Parts: sequence; C-alpha cells; structure tokens
Amino acid sequence: MSHRICVIEGDGIGQEVIPAAVTVLQATGVDLTFEHAEGGFGCFQRRGTALPPETLALAQECDAVLFGATQSPSGKVDGYRSPILELRRELDLYANLRPVHSLPILASRPGIDLLIVRENTEGLYVRRECSDGEMAIAERVITRRASARIMRVACEQARSRRGHVTLVHKANVLVETDGLFRRTALEVAEAYPDVQVDELLVDTAAMRLVQSPERFDVIVTTNLYGDILSDEAAGLVGGLGLAASANVGDRHGLFEPVHGSAPDIAGRGIANPIAAILAGALMLDFLGESEAADRIRAAVLDVLEHGPRTPDLGGNARTIDVTQAVVRGLRDA
Ligand code: NAI
Ligand code: MG
Repeated sequence: MSHRICVIEGDGIGQEVIPAAVTVLQATGVDLTFEHAEGGFGCFQRRGTALPPETLALAQECDAVLFGATQSPSGKVDGYRSPILELRRELDLYANLRPVHSLPILASRPGIDLLIVRENTEGLYVRRECSDGEMAIAERVITRRASARIMRVACEQARSRRGHVTLVHKANVLVETDGLFRRTALEVAEAYPDVQVDELLVDTAAMRLVQSPERFDVIVTTNLYGDILSDEAAGLVGGLGLAASANVGDRHGLFEPVHGSAPDIAGRGIANPIAAILAGALMLDFLGESEAADRIRAAVLDVLEHGPRTPDLGGNARTIDVTQAVVRGLRDA
C-alpha cells in the first residue's frame, strides 16, 4: 500500500533540504507518493496566507506531512500566522518528540541517548498577549487534559526505551500552571509502575543537560521549556543541522528538521540536509516502515563518520554531495 505524503518545503533552506530528504526517501524503495503544497512567509507574500486552505486539506488527508521550515517576520505583520503552529493545532499534533543521540563527529558529546517529549499545544504558545506600551502581559494556559496526554506519551516512549522519565517544570514559582502540570503528570505516572519517574526544576534540568546528559532517558515538559531544552540538547550532539523532530497526535504526524529557514545560508546549496533526512526516517517509523528508517539512519551515520560534510560540520561539501552519499550508502547496505 502506498503512503501519501504531504510535502511542505516552506521558506529558505526548507526548499533545499526537503527535496534532499525526498530523494533519500525515494531511494529506500518504500512505496511513497509525494504531494507538494505551499506554505510559509513567501506564500503569505504571494497569496496573503501562510497556510492556504488546500494545503491544510491535503495535510489532513495524507498519511503524514514532511515539513521544511518557514521564516517568521521579525515584527508583527497583520494577518500573518505561523503555519507550523497552525498545523500543530489543526492536526492536533500534541506531542513534539525530539530524539537526541550521540553522533560520530567531533562536535558531538559521547554517551547520549535521550528523548525530549514536549507539550505542543498550549503553555505560553497560545499567544494570548496584550500590551499598552508600558506593560505587556502573556497568558500561559495549562490544562489537565493536555498535561495527562503528554505524560502518557512520555511513559509509553519510556517503556520502549530505558524506562525512565524526568518530569521538568518550575512548580515552585509557577504554582498554579506548572503545579497543575506536575500533579497531573504524577497521577498519570501511577498507571505506569514499570516506569521510574523523577522531577527536576527547569533551571536545574538545563544545567544537568550540560553536565551529565547521558543520565537522561525521556524528558517530559511544557511547551516553552521543551523548545529551549531541545535546542540545548541538539547543541550537545552537533547542532541544528542534524536535529529532527516528530509532531504527533492520535491521528496525524508531521515531521520536520528542528532548524529554521537559515536566511544566512539560504540559496547557496550548502545547507546540511541530514536533519531533514533524519526527519524522513522518523516519518517512516510513524508509517510502520522502521526497517527502512533504520537503513537511512545507518547510511547517515556512515556519512557523518567518513564524510562528505557540509560547512556547519567543518567540511566543504554541498547539500547535494551529502544527499548522494546517503543514497549510495542505502544502495550498498
Ligand atoms: P535557524 O535554525 O534558521 O538558523 C540558526 C543558525 O543555524 C544559522 O546560522 C543557520 O545558518 C544554521 N543552520 C540552521 N540549519 C542549518 C542547516 N541545515 N545546515 C547548516 N546550518 C544550519 O534559526 P534562526 O536564524 O533563529 O531563524 C531563521 C528563521 O527561521 C526565522 O524567521 C525563524 O522564525 C525561523 N524558524 C522557523 C522554524 C520552523 O519553521 N519550524 C524553527 C526555527 C526558526
Ligand atoms: Mg525551537
């Protein structure tokens, strides 16, 4: 059975790394049909919407979405809404999963194998802000429902890993919001007696992640903390050019590199495609094609070890050189 994939390249290097990922996915031999759709700031400038209705409809119909990156305007632009936040909400992609593994490159610390499970729908990212010019206020929404379901995802993931969950919050200061998140998560944990749960305040967690990242298995946390900690963790193993994430709900899945549109290098053909290629592997896992996903990951490890490497990893290869090396690795496997 063919899997239908909605492809949204987006802006900047999204248009370079997503075609690379599609090339690699095609080389696995898995039966995939790619359907392309527009989205992003460029789309907004052309059409007045960053996420046209047909893009959303296609994303809803397809078996999975492969998403590049979009550029956000730095100031407020009337009518612009971030398509990735919109897609996460419309497809109810409530869990953001960011695996972080040590990699065979100098820039990576050894011994790391952790997974950050970030709540993806609420917290400070509900964007309820107001300002009178002298004082600005942001509302932070935490619900029992969203806290419970993200903790369930974390515990399920821990079961297929090393059975350990670290609950990260700041309930000592944010007594109501993080207090509700913490209490709910600890209640959910009671249904998983085989999973060991402990907790850390987010500032301590940030420090421990730098000092002893190898001690973490699954980290579960609210939206903003998860955003920050997952980029920090990506930095421990070689940076944004290598980090992929899955956004999943009960019905849909969207897979993306963690990085943005990288305007500083866009259009030059030197973006590292590996983050997008690994996002493709996460998508194959979601589609039940884990054998092919493992083949991609093996080919990527081989390329990281032996080159070619793009400039962000100290090499001078181009996006296409790395992509072709991964494809050769798949063929030779
Ligand atoms: P960024 O991730 O685009 O770039 C940060 C730095 O990492 C830059 O120096 C860039 O050249 C480098 N980099 C990122 N990906 C790379 C890759 N694959 N290969 C080599 N180098 C890479 O983050 P930045 O600069 O903060 O944001 C740029 C734009 O992207 C902004 O408009 C931002 O809002 C947007 N953004 C979008 C995201 C998304 O669509 N999910 C996520 C993060 C940022
Ligand atoms: Mg981020």
